[in-house]
Amino acid sequence: MSFPQRRLRRLRRTEAMRRLVAETRLSVDDLVAPLFVREGIDDPQPIASIPGVVQHTLGSLRDEVRVLRDLGVPGVILFGVPRHKDPEGSGAWDPDGIVQVALRDLRDTFGDEVVLCADLCLDEYTSHGHCGVLDDRGEVDNDATLDLYARVALAQAEAGADIVAPSGMMDGAVAAIRDALDEDAFTSTSIMAYSAKYASALYGPFRDAVDVTIAGGGDRRGYQQDPANARESMEEIRFDVMEGADIVMVKPAMTNLDIVARARAELDLPIAAYHVSGEYAMVRAAAERGWIDGTAVALEQLLSVRRAGADLVLTYFAREIAEVLGGGRSA
Ligand code: PBG
Repeated sequence: MSFPQRRLRRLRRTEAMRRLVAETRLSVDDLVAPLFVREGIDDPQPIASIPGVVQHTLGSLRDEVRVLRDLGVPGVILFGVPRHKDPEGSGAWDPDGIVQVALRDLRDTFGDEVVLCADLCLDEYTSHGHCGVLDDRGEVDNDATLDLYARVALAQAEAGADIVAPSGMMDGAVAAIRDALDEDAFTSTSIMAYSAKYASALYGPFRDAVDVTIAGGGDRRGYQQDPANARESMEEIRFDVMEGADIVMVKPAMTNLDIVARARAELDLPIAAYHVSGEYAMVRAAAERGWIDGTAVALEQLLSVRRAGADLVLTYFAREIAEVLGGGRSA
């Protein structure tokens, strides 16, 4: 008797068969590890809501990057926690600011073996916790902020960043940064734009990690995107590409896989997705209770991000996943 359906299960029978027909792969080569470096501490400080991740000293940062390098992780992205904050966030472009010092140190130590990305924003450095400077009414002033982003980009490029990653969701940020870099002969410094970045409750643990509290119980809904909107993300992404972004990012990852897929259908440049602190924390918390297998869930989530169309994934699981997958590109 003939069976009208195709027998799709034939190709799922064995592990080797599944490997042979897998459409998507997650590799160590796809991973970027977010790392925090804090000014003025003698020992690494744990971050309660991002278990397993710490605020690094310069020394422990170097050790961590060495481990990641040895595991084959190609990139890291740095976030700074300064000792002092001010209304303009001047630590972000100070040549002696913590991220600039860290970049120089890592560049000296590792040369070109690891791609050094620097998050480019002011929120870790401003006393009010917003991603830009405030105008008389207390709103984030877009164009005044662009001038400061240009200064941060130059400071980071000068210190050795391969990639600067503007995350503040100011209009025109990519163009302002590209202009500033090119004028100062940093034509080889790349821009990974946080293009479609949503105002998300999933950034909570990150704000613990960088000691950011937004003044007056405020939020970022005036500049980050409304989770209700998807078409708007494509507008954001198209503008960033026109302005000169080399890589565009979607963030958070799991709640915005539709955006990743739409961007993939439209674009041929690399697409990044950021599996953010809250996404990591949820998996870790459930795993700690024994409710899920955390590593298995992490692998499944990150593979799904790849399947949606992202080329690279920023994730706090980078080290753990690299340990599980085993490293390195095999041509
Ligand atoms: C802003 C920035 C944030 C994150 C990355 N860059 C915080 C925010 O927008 O409030 C969040 C990353 C995460 O949650 O893992 N500098």
